[in-house]
Amino acid sequence: MKELVNTRFIYTTHVISKALIGLTLFCFILNPVHAQNKYRNAKKISPDLFGLFFEDINYAADGGLYAEFIQNRSFEYNPTERKEWHPLYNWDYFTTGYSYGNVNIETSQPVHPNNPHYIILEAEHIYQQDGSVGIKNQGFDGIVVKAGNLYQFSVFAKQLSIEPVTLKISLQNRKGEVLAEQNLTVSSIQWGKQTAVLQPSADYDTASLVIALVSKGKIALDVVSLFPEETFKKRPNGMRADLAQLLADMKPAFIRFPGGCLVHGDGLGNMYRWKNTIGPIEQRVEQRNIWGYHQTGGLGYYEYFQFCEDIGAKPLPVLPAAVSCQNSGGTWRIGGTGQRALPLEDMQDYIQEVLDLIEWANGPVNSTWGSKRAAAGHPASFNLQYIGIGNEEKITPEFEQRFKLVHDAVKGRYPEITVIGTSGPFHSGEDFEKGWAFAKNQQVKVVDEHYYVQPEWFISNQYRYDNYPRSSGNVYLGEYASWGNQLKNALAEAAFMTGLERNGDVVQLASYAPLFAKKNNTQWKTDMIFFDNTRYYLTPNYHVQKLFSVNKGDRYLNNIIQKEDRDTSIAASATGDSRTGDIILKLVNTGKDKKTIATDLTGYKFSSDGVKILLSGTADQQNSFSDPDAVKPDQGPIAIKKKMNIELPPLSLMVIRIKTLK
Ligand code: AHR
Repeated sequence: MKELVNTRFIYTTHVISKALIGLTLFCFILNPVHAQNKYRNAKKISPDLFGLFFEDINYAADGGLYAEFIQNRSFEYNPTERKEWHPLYNWDYFTTGYSYGNVNIETSQPVHPNNPHYIILEAEHIYQQDGSVGIKNQGFDGIVVKAGNLYQFSVFAKQLSIEPVTLKISLQNRKGEVLAEQNLTVSSIQWGKQTAVLQPSADYDTASLVIALVSKGKIALDVVSLFPEETFKKRPNGMRADLAQLLADMKPAFIRFPGGCLVHGDGLGNMYRWKNTIGPIEQRVEQRNIWGYHQTGGLGYYEYFQFCEDIGAKPLPVLPAAVSCQNSGGTWRIGGTGQRALPLEDMQDYIQEVLDLIEWANGPVNSTWGSKRAAAGHPASFNLQYIGIGNEEKITPEFEQRFKLVHDAVKGRYPEITVIGTSGPFHSGEDFEKGWAFAKNQQVKVVDEHYYVQPEWFISNQYRYDNYPRSSGNVYLGEYASWGNQLKNALAEAAFMTGLERNGDVVQLASYAPLFAKKNNTQWKTDMIFFDNTRYYLTPNYHVQKLFSVNKGDRYLNNIIQKEDRDTSIAASATGDSRTGDIILKLVNTGKDKKTIATDLTGYKFSSDGVKILLSGTADQQNSFSDPDAVKPDQGPIAIKKKMNIELPPLSLMVIRIKTLK
């Protein structure tokens, strides 16, 4: 009897479960499942695919993103940077009335040994009531102030005369009229930081900062600084808010910093050493920038990491591989023979320097380096996950030996950190081949590729990664751009980027380069954002990068784009965002004729109200200071159907967002 009951029970359960399976299958056939379920089986796209590359090239940092107004604030400019530069460069000494005095450069008792030069300003005689002796700085081609805003002035000073010294600090216009003024009295014979807040009475774009002695006296001065209070997120020692916001708007997954060639430097002494760029600004080591100007290190590792956190991007620092740039000393003209390698006996210290960075970024507050991060104001970990070793190096035995030492030490101590290797400066050729072979051999997880090429190359190479091996290292496309900032360049990059999405399982990270260029201070012609002291304009390339970054998906949806032939003048991708359930189409027409791309949403349940963003124009159209919006995306509605033949205007990128339904 018991057996019969059991058999019946089993039979009934069997029937019910069969019915349930049948019902599920029935629903599956008749009712498209919600997109999120479908995404589960689709190919994953790296969550870190689209990020930013930041390098202090084209005055991107000092005089650019770094909000410091004072140029040569620490009197460290020197003729090895530019022949005409010296410690008083960009400072004018002046006297008014029949006052007289002098200014001298000193190095005997600096604020800090890392910052050796300072000045001594002396007023021997002050003429009548309004006489003065002083110095004046015009910033980076003028200091931009707004009426009513607050500006933080600071200076290191010590009294050298018997009596305390009063300084008049002012912002002045070109006629010498005062826009804001404060007095500071220096009464210590030890170096100390003095501060004042200036509030201008009028807007002015080319103001000067004036420091004047208005009574007889002698004083030592160094690290003269002026910041707007309104930096990005009001961070002290912070960033120019408008420029930083442009980067935040892109929602980058990561930011690579501080370069570029800046990393490996022009000779070993010029390598970028991260420890030189943390701590109080008066203790940072300033140096010649490989791009031919001065680097204060004021925008240093702490500021980079903090900025990444502020905008939700992962930090991706790149450190030298203990070799200098192969073009050091301008040797690119003779085949890049300038690479120099750190002596092997110095490698242990160098490896420790790299390991210390990871401890500084992630270590507990009671660790040696973690405590320095905490002391700077950030006790929590910065969650460093990636670290690049080397920048587009020439793959020599010297490089290989040093890279391996650093790589193995990092992997041994911090296996959770992804170390990124390098494959030379081109998309193919000797260093590229050798770099990848070496990286595979060493089981390097991600390899950095760089290429700057004509737009046609990007169009015809949009399938480059389709056949990349999936079994060895992933790709970090760390620097790429087509030569130009016209619409045709941006669209060639867009076509290529659909290929990055399609191969987002093997291409883990990608960043366009370079990012910023300051008017009249540009070393690299093709850049993403152009700016001067008050304005900026976005290139079509910026718009493309942003459209991909803010419309990224995390799954590649294979069957939606119905494009069988390899007509390279059109390119397309279909991705899914499993968080929102949205389907995102990116359709590119790089040709001069309109084209049609067919799509098929069979199997998806979707809303018919879609959003279409279109970037289009003529091939050579570009933006400029006088016409910043000549090329810009337009957004509007689009009716979504199961099967569509989407017409693409000539020279266009169309992004379509489709809401899926449950
Ligand atoms: O992005 C400009 C320069 O191009 C980078 O510094 C260097 O890595 C590359 O050659």
